[in-house]
Amino acid sequence: MTRYINIALAKGRLAELSAGLFRDIGIFCGDVDDDSRKLIISDEENKVRLFLVKPGDVPVYVEYGAADIGIAGRDTLLEEGRNVYEVLDLGFGACRMVLAGPGAIKDSFSLMSNKRVATKYPRIAREYFDHKMKESVEIIKLSGSVELAPLTGLSDVIVDIVESGKTLKENGLEVFETIASISARMIVNRVSMKMESDRINKIIADIRQMLAERNKTAG
Ligand code: PRP
Repeated sequence: MTRYINIALAKGRLAELSAGLFRDIGIFCGDVDDDSRKLIISDEENKVRLFLVKPGDVPVYVEYGAADIGIAGRDTLLEEGRNVYEVLDLGFGACRMVLAGPGAIKDSFSLMSNKRVATKYPRIAREYFDHKMKESVEIIKLSGSVELAPLTGLSDVIVDIVESGKTLKENGLEVFETIASISARMIVNRVSMKMESDRINKIIADIRQMLAERNKTAG
């Protein structure tokens, strides 16, 4: 009996775009919008199942092999640091991971001591300050609305995602430095890549070709 290929998709911003990839290569994806409480969508004909999970859980499902394939933002992959294969840059979900703060301290920031950094990405922030800046700072982990931290005195600066720049601008904050460029990536479990290489490589090749065709049409 053919085994299912399991695919973990991040709920939220990337869900519909990720499902669109599989839909365009002929896999049934049902309705992945946020209102749906359904967690597994099955394509019985192709023996493929889609799981909808929190973004940070995608690499966890893939590392443990509960999902063979996953789609997650590079921000999540850098933050989780899981042992998975990154096989494709999908191009969508493009944004930047930045160090940002109030414009008033932009020039003096490097001279400040005892810096406090608020972020949803403590690992990325730690890595940046430890290895790139070679500096010990206090990292304050938050769950959202990170831009509020420097406005309330909780932190001096933030490490966060910037997409349009609207949230920073509306809160009087500026980008100090870009830490990493981000986009959605396809990842694969290391064992699945060997055990199911034919089916997984076919999915990767189909998606790669479909993305190339999309780019041609757009260009
Ligand atoms: C993300 C990010 C910024 C915002 C950036 O937050 O953390 O706050 O989007 O987007 P922009 O540059 O287009 O304004 P999200 O909307 O995921 O919500 P959260 O702050 O509650 O995590």
